[in-house]
Amino acid sequence: METPRMPIPHSWYALVFSDELKPGAVLGRQLAGREIIIYRTKSGVVSAVEAFCPHLGAHLAYGGTVVDEDIRCPFHGFQFGLDGDCTATGYGTKPPKKARLTLIPTRELHGIIFAYHHPQQAAPVWEPPVYDDEGWSPLLHTTLELRDHPQETVENAVDIGHFALVHHYRDVQLRQPIVTEGPVLKIAYSARRATPVLSRFIDHQMMFEMDLLAHGMGYSLVRVNVPAFGIQARLFVLATPTSGDRLNLSLALNLRTGDAFLRGFPLRSLLPHRLLQRLIAGVIFNGFVGDVHQDKPIWENKRYLAQPALADGDGPIGRFRIWSKQFYSESAQVVEPPPSSQERPIHELQPG
Ligand code: FES
Ligand SMILES: [Fe+2]
Repeated sequence: METPRMPIPHSWYALVFSDELKPGAVLGRQLAGREIIIYRTKSGVVSAVEAFCPHLGAHLAYGGTVVDEDIRCPFHGFQFGLDGDCTATGYGTKPPKKARLTLIPTRELHGIIFAYHHPQQAAPVWEPPVYDDEGWSPLLHTTLELRDHPQETVENAVDIGHFALVHHYRDVQLRQPIVTEGPVLKIAYSARRATPVLSRFIDHQMMFEMDLLAHGMGYSLVRVNVPAFGIQARLFVLATPTSGDRLNLSLALNLRTGDAFLRGFPLRSLLPHRLLQRLIAGVIFNGFVGDVHQDKPIWENKRYLAQPALADGDGPIGRFRIWSKQFYSESAQVVEPPPSSQERPIHELQPG
């Protein structure tokens, strides 16, 4: 029996990374089955619009060009401003009032460009948060295509029960139980895992402290602290529904290091700080990309069970699902779900 597919939730979704969209660039993307383009004007303003020209329907990703602050269609040369209005026809005649591009809300934060999707094109009622960018290294990033639904990828981060078996983490501990605040969900845990390369420099498995902040269904931030190395990392997990049941799952990571960075490790004096930072960022990033490859065959072939058979040892799946409902409401309103009385916090989980 075919499982009914969940609709695409309304949320902010990552479209491109800032370094992929230089001034004058025009890129085509799909967002929840919609063909859109994203472009950056000559002065650096980012805009996303529906891809089809309102004149006679040309797709603006195929030959559309940025002219100063406008986007120009390749078919008859109509130009459109940042407000979507037609500013000029290719004939020098009066622009028709009806010729308007449909704008899609965008935000550029932390080197990531987000667009807001709502099935009825309602305006966003919440904003992706702005975190401090001071001292953070440039983003490393990659994007994978897979068959999945955004909710499943966010649920994966609270599905603490699979961390040992699938990802080989040990001593998984809940540091802070799940908390929801409108469109934001928070949970914190710690775990140990052997990490290639870095594990040679310490005689035990490396301990990671991870704070997950999910902002809707498309933007999760995992703040990672590696006390043994004096490193803080930010891992951005960005699930963007493209069309049908396909996702672009982007992962990005940057680092911030303080005085404690590699204190006591001979490596610290052998290599320049920036190079070391880059090397370590690469190793930690590859570890998280590896996690996604471990999840991928499960995600691509699982089915969504609305009534799962949960057990002690599972993460707070029920609480997560109550929170996630707000992103399917007819209106774009975010609602604080009532606390779940059925779910007990998990204080300690079995080592793998
Ligand atoms: S279709 Fe775009 S200008 Fe004619
Ligand atoms: Fe996972």
